[in-house]
Amino acid sequence: MENIAVIYGSDSGSTQKVAAQIAEKFNVSSQDIADIDVDDLPQYELVIMGTPTVNHGEVQSDWDYALNEIEDLDLAETKVAIFGLGDQLEYADTFVDAMADLADVCEDAGAEIIGQWPTEGYEHSESRAEEDGQFLGLAIDVERQANLTQQRVDKWAELLKASL
Ligand SMILES: Cc1cc2nc3c(=O)[nH]c(=O)nc-3n(C[C@H](O)[C@H](O)[C@H](O)COP(=O)(O)O)c2cc1C
Repeated sequence: MENIAVIYGSDSGSTQKVAAQIAEKFNVSSQDIADIDVDDLPQYELVIMGTPTVNHGEVQSDWDYALNEIEDLDLAETKVAIFGLGDQLEYADTFVDAMADLADVCEDAGAEIIGQWPTEGYEHSESRAEEDGQFLGLAIDVERQANLTQQRVDKWAELLKASL
């Protein structure tokens, strides 16, 4: 399995850790969005992107700049899968909202978004990252459900592999 990038932004390290768990499933190294050249993204078959939701519904700050650049890319040949970290109790009405911002920009750039994920098993009340009863990507909550992270990652990776 080649031509896959796992990219993350992270403030306090949790998204970075989950990115490493996901990257391991694809035998690649995860990369910090702050360190990569966004212009390289269209060369990948699949780009897996992760962000925590911060500041009550916002994307992690390194993604802000990157999303402006992604807007100008042509991702018509690229599949994008998104994972988002959040806290479903403390931020129940903005849970993993930032996944929606990544999805919107990538979709506008022509990417196909894969890896939608069921909302069952979470206790939030609202999320912008929900569409047609599903999350736009993998929702991870290391504050409330850390014990579920590895099994969610394992299952999601299988789902993505089946979509390639
Ligand atoms: C100030 C602050 C605001 C947050 N806002 C949200 C939010 O709106 N929605 C959410 O789901 N999680 C929110 N979170 C929770 C973080 O997304 C969560 O702690 C995440 O695991 C942090 O990832 P990181 O360690 O990669 O930065 C917030 C956390 C902090 C500290």
